[in-house]
Amino acid sequence: MFVDSDPETFNTTAELIASKLTAKTKLIIPVHLFGQCADMTSILKLANSKGIPVMEDSAQSIGARHHGQISCSMGLTGTLSFFPSKNLGCFGDAA
Ligand SMILES: Cc1ncc(COP(=O)(O)O)c(C=O)c1O
Repeated sequence: MFVDSDPETFNTTAELIASKLTAKTKLIIPVHLFGQCADMTSILKLANSKGIPVMEDSAQSIGARHHGQISCSMGLTGTLSFFPSKNLGCFGDAA
């Protein structure tokens, strides 16, 4: 199930996620967009209260931090991308 974005940050929020949770929800995947992290404090609080693991999609937030904690290090696991169009592009395409 997809969750909409917050028009202020273009990231998802715990409130938007909460509105879509069902008994069948097995995993929450916040997608950190445009070099900024979603509000992982409230997302992890929601996820932990429901016993649902979080996997961060950090493809577009390499090096970004949320309250000092680096993107891709806050959930149970996370994913990155080394595709040249991502935030890492200025360092080369990792090819
Ligand atoms: C947010 C996000 N996640 C994942 C991916 C997938 O990355 P890759 O093509 O390196 O697997 C992309 C690629 O566009 C992306 O923008």
